[in-house]
Amino acid sequence: MFRKTILCIGAGYVGGPTMAVIAKHCPEYKVVVVDINPKRIAQWQSDKLPIYEPGLDEVVFATRNRNLFFSTDVDSHIESSDIIFVSVNTPTKTFGQGAGKAADLQYWEKTARQILKNSSTGKIVVEKSTLPVRTAAAMERILNSNEKGIHFDVLSNPEFLAEGTAIADLESPDRILVGARNTDSGQNALEQIVEIYAHWTPREKIITSNVWSSELSKLVANAFLAQRVSSINTISALCEKTNADIEEVSRAIGMDSRIGPKFLKAGVGFGGSCFKKDILNLAYIAETYGLTEVSRYWEQVVEINSYQQDRFVRIIVNSMFNTVAGKKIALFGFAFKADTGDTRESPAISIAQSLMDERAVLSIYDPKASEGITPELVDYEGRFSVEHSPVSAADGAHAIIIATDWAEFRDYDYSAIFEKMEKPAFIFDGRNILDHQKLYEIGFSVHRIGRPPLSRLA
Ligand SMILES: NC(=O)c1ccc[n+]([C@@H]2O[C@H](COP(=O)([O-])OP(=O)(O)OC[C@H]3O[C@@H](n4cnc5c(N)ncnc54)[C@H](O)[C@@H]3O)[C@@H](O)[C@H]2O)c1
Repeated sequence: MFRKTILCIGAGYVGGPTMAVIAKHCPEYKVVVVDINPKRIAQWQSDKLPIYEPGLDEVVFATRNRNLFFSTDVDSHIESSDIIFVSVNTPTKTFGQGAGKAADLQYWEKTARQILKNSSTGKIVVEKSTLPVRTAAAMERILNSNEKGIHFDVLSNPEFLAEGTAIADLESPDRILVGARNTDSGQNALEQIVEIYAHWTPREKIITSNVWSSELSKLVANAFLAQRVSSINTISALCEKTNADIEEVSRAIGMDSRIGPKFLKAGVGFGGSCFKKDILNLAYIAETYGLTEVSRYWEQVVEINSYQQDRFVRIIVNSMFNTVAGKKIALFGFAFKADTGDTRESPAISIAQSLMDERAVLSIYDPKASEGITPELVDYEGRFSVEHSPVSAADGAHAIIIATDWAEFRDYDYSAIFEKMEKPAFIFDGRNILDHQKLYEIGFSVHRIGRPPLSRLA
């Protein structure tokens, strides 16, 4: 017999790992994860989970069918739960008012109505998805304008995990944030959520706030992280013009304790499903409150990200004698970062598309994201191949492009790869992760971000 039942609606990159870790540390709670996508649920129930995350398999396999359950039956599980985390997707709106910027809250609102329809008792509803500030107010209005006489508390508990390190981040978070109303019922609900995390997180790391601060903090955290990436990338462009070296500049500024060393790695820009959508959402919210300058400031972070990718493609084409038409180019990495199979908003997508627009023929290799490649490039069918080894990707290629910071890319036998390539052979390291001097000595012309090229051509 379980003490309480926790339900999570949405079995994605956040819902699955988060609930698995809660189930692991709270064996007295029953944790059920539901989704409208039957394929995803079947994968969560199988030996091959729908997402790749280091350490995820162990946690899920240890808890599944003990106190962690996956189901497509959303309605009946709503009724039997005490606490409902909502972790459905909140993409950018593609239509109507705010198209291209605002959050599309249709999945969110449908979920609220579904919770209401299937509840005969009041429940705690927790926003786990990233949402515009003040969404909880709308949720409360929908949920509490009922004729059943039941009351719902809506709390905000944004997720700060990063893909690729999700389990480590969940096991040992920098902080847990829970926002609630300052009412007796709101504070009681807040205590119940804090109690869950207190099973494994030191109390001082669990911080509480009002609902609006909590909702806004998640958007701001992502905006600040992305802004650091764009900031260092603007400086990489300046380094290339002045022979300064971005790695040296990053190290020098990162040792300033007021700045800190993280997120100062220049590269082809940020990707993933969150940064762009959350910044645009923040900018849109500012705009709707008439804060035009604030909105423009944050929009620039996204513009610089596109600029950096365009700039990288220009460097590739210019270095390869101003044409890549008909040339085979190997793209190493398609996931938006290392240690994930997630390709959403990956910089590799726009780089691949721009090169294929220039008529290059791509052979793409990624250790974990092969399945995501073809769906992201549907309009380019026949102009690229998905390879299952780096050697076959580079065979006969004129150039290798590093688009993802997978550690294994450092360890390849580049002498053997060089032998099989067309000459002159180029490497464009969009993540600055390889041993450039060694590659140069093998015979490659090496181009990197924010550092002088090691070019074998006059
Ligand atoms: N991915 C991340 O790294 C990350 C980190 C922190 C926060 N977030 C936020 O968490 C939220 C979820 O992100 P994600 O990456 O897990 O998304 P996701 O697309 O991987 O998963 C969302 C899931 O919700 C399901 N869903 C949608 N509507 C539903 C409904 N009405 N009933 C049941 N299931 C439904 C979808 O089928 C999907 O499986 C987003 O708001 C995102 O911004 C994501």
